[in-house]
Amino acid sequence: MIETLIAEVRARQIFDSRGIPTVSADVELACGAKGTAAVPSGASTGKYEAHELRDSGDQFGGKGVLKAVANVNGEIAEALRGKRAERQREIDSIMIALDGSENKSHLGANAILAVSLACAKAAANAYGVPLYRYLGGINGTVMPMPMMNILNGGAHASNNMDIQEFMIVPKGARSFFETMSIGTSVYASLSKLLRDRRLPTAVGDEGGFAPDLSSDEEALELLCDAIAAAGYRPGTDVSIALDAAASEWAQVDGYRMPKSGRGFSSAQLIEYYEKLVSSYPIISIEDPLGEEDLEGFTEITKRLSGIQIVGDDLFVTNCARLMNGISQKSANAILIKPNQAGTLTETLDTIRLAQRSGYGVIVSHRSGETEDTTIADLAVAVNAGQIKTGAPARSERVAKYNRLLKIEEEMK
Ligand code: PGA
Ligand code: ZN
Repeated sequence: MIETLIAEVRARQIFDSRGIPTVSADVELACGAKGTAAVPSGASTGKYEAHELRDSGDQFGGKGVLKAVANVNGEIAEALRGKRAERQREIDSIMIALDGSENKSHLGANAILAVSLACAKAAANAYGVPLYRYLGGINGTVMPMPMMNILNGGAHASNNMDIQEFMIVPKGARSFFETMSIGTSVYASLSKLLRDRRLPTAVGDEGGFAPDLSSDEEALELLCDAIAAAGYRPGTDVSIALDAAASEWAQVDGYRMPKSGRGFSSAQLIEYYEKLVSSYPIISIEDPLGEEDLEGFTEITKRLSGIQIVGDDLFVTNCARLMNGISQKSANAILIKPNQAGTLTETLDTIRLAQRSGYGVIVSHRSGETEDTTIADLAVAVNAGQIKTGAPARSERVAKYNRLLKIEEEMK
C-alpha cells in the first residue's frame, strides 16, 4: 500500500514569462513522493474567470502573489495535511469550501490551482506513472493537434493588429512529431518572408511574430504564403485558426477595435468573419464576439456552420456557463484553461460536459506562462484532440511541445 497521505504543502512566488509574479506550489506525501506545479496568467482575461489574487501595493507593480503564497502555506496546508492525495475531488472541495467565495477571491484561484495540480502530480509520482497516465488511465491515447500562434496581435503585442492570434493547424500531419516538423518549418518560412519584406521578426507574448501589417487580410495572406513557401498546401496540409479575443473590443453597444479604431455592430462583425472565412482556409475562430454577446455567438455558430466556434472568455472553463451556452447553441467548442476554473476537478468536469455535448475541446496555455507542462499531459489524458500553446518558440511554449514529443515516444 503506497502511503499517499499529504505530509506537507508549500508555496513560493516565482515569475512568469512576462516577468510577473506567480504561484508555484509543492505537495509532498508521506511516502516521499512530491509534485510541483506553477500557475499561468492571462492578459486578455475573461470577466467571469476565477479570481487571481494579487497583493497590490508598490512592490512588483502591485502584482506580487505573496498573499496567495501565504494562503497556501497557512490555511490550505493546514486543511490538507493528512488527506489522501489521490482523492482529488475531496481535496478540491476542501479548498473551495475553505475559500467560501463565488470566484475563489478569498484564497485566490492562483493559490488553489497550484496546490490542486501539485497534488495530482504528487499522487502520479507516488504511483510511479506519468501524469497523463494517472489522469487518463489506459484510455488517454490521443495526441492533440496543435494550433500554433505564429502571428501575435491584440493584448499580446505592441503592434497594430487587433486580432489577437493567427494560428496554423498542421492538420495533414500523421503524428505529433510531424506536426512539429510542419509547424517549425512554416514558422521559419514566415520569419524569412518578414525579413525579405524588411518587417521586424521580434515576437509577442506567445512567441509569434508581431509586425505592423496593413490589415487582417494581409496577415492571412502572409500565413498562406509562409505555408506554401514551406512546401505545404494551405487548407489541405495546414489550415488557419483565429482567436479574435473580441471581449477586448466590446463597447456598451457594438465593438470598437482599439488599435485600428474600426467600429462594428455584432451583425457587421459576423459578416466580416464570413468574408474572411470565404477567402482564407480558416477552420476555427475563438471568441469572435464579446463574452456578453450570447445572441451574436448563437448567430455566428449558425451562420458559419462547418467552422469551429470556440468559447474562451465566453465559457471561462466553467460548467454552468458552458451549460448555458449548450442550451443556447452559442458555440461548438470550448477552450480549457485550468486557471479560469481554479481546480483540476472543475476543469475535468467542464471537459466531460463539453465532450458529452459534442463540443470540441482545446486545452490551452495562458499568455503569461511558466515551464510547467501540465496542460500537455491533461490534453492527452482527456483525449482533447486539440491544444493551444503558442508558437514553436519561447521555451515556456516549447516546453509543452517537448513534453508532448516525449509522451508520443512513450506511447509507441
Ligand atoms: P490570455 O490569452 O492568456 O492573455 O487570456 C489567451 C487566449 O485568449 O486564448
Ligand atoms: Zn482566447
